[in-house]
Amino acid sequence: MITGNTRLFAIIADPIAQVRTPQVLNAYFQSQDLDAVLVPVHVPAEGLAEVIAGFRRMKNLGGFIVTVPHKIQVAALCDELGPAARATGSVNTVRREADGRLAGDMFDGAGFVQGLRTQGHDPAGKRLLLLGAGGAAGAIAFSLVEAGAARLVIANRTLAKAQAIVQRLRQAFPHADVRAGTADPRECDMVVNATTLGMRAEDPLPLDAELLRPETVVAEIIMKPELTPLLAEAHKRGCPIHYGRHMLDEQVRLMARFML
Ligand code: ATR
Repeated sequence: MITGNTRLFAIIADPIAQVRTPQVLNAYFQSQDLDAVLVPVHVPAEGLAEVIAGFRRMKNLGGFIVTVPHKIQVAALCDELGPAARATGSVNTVRREADGRLAGDMFDGAGFVQGLRTQGHDPAGKRLLLLGAGGAAGAIAFSLVEAGAARLVIANRTLAKAQAIVQRLRQAFPHADVRAGTADPRECDMVVNATTLGMRAEDPLPLDAELLRPETVVAEIIMKPELTPLLAEAHKRGCPIHYGRHMLDEQVRLMARFML
């Protein structure tokens, strides 16, 4: 039951109706027997700074989750940033300290890597191909290198965006083997699809499936549909496949721990 003692958490987004975090995090709070509740807050970009200033004043607010389109702007409004947030310039979770200071970090990548590990696909020492260079791909690239990938090639329709991520990664990890390249999985142990291709039935595959070897793990971050055309094609060719939902499952735990 919600009482005067219940700790408050929020998720901010625009639009808000589609977010799944309230269901998932409130279920997590219940499973941990925590007196806490997370509510959706619809915040358009033009009101963001005022809402964040108000959050600083709310003494029973433990923190908030940040999603589209606020991840970059909120990073700039935080007082402290964790390493993944600094490297990607974006946050998805903010903790409110007792004095109103805000500490932000980014768990998209850590959730993905933790999800891989729970399924027996540790990226340490592996040659990886990352497809896509959007917000999610940037965070995942950071965490894959941090986890000890032997090599990371980032392929993207817009090459300059892949190059920009590579540049940031080289600053954070000067000795890492990271480069922008083409979507060729032949010399890879694992392929990660972080493009949005596969969300709609009419989307083309994000790579030429003919080039997949059966030893290569093929991982998605798309949650719906669960079996994307890429995963279906990879499975047909004997590749181990890794579903998008594992990322969210692990991310929820990491985000809750950071805010609590
Ligand atoms: P997210 O927040 O999920 O990362 P995003 O930042 O919009 O979303 O990134 C979407 C990714 O999917 C980008 O890498 C994008 O490629 P561009 O950087 O060239 O835009 C990729 N993507 C989306 N539609 C695509 C398409 N039709 N063909 C190839 N890549 C596509």
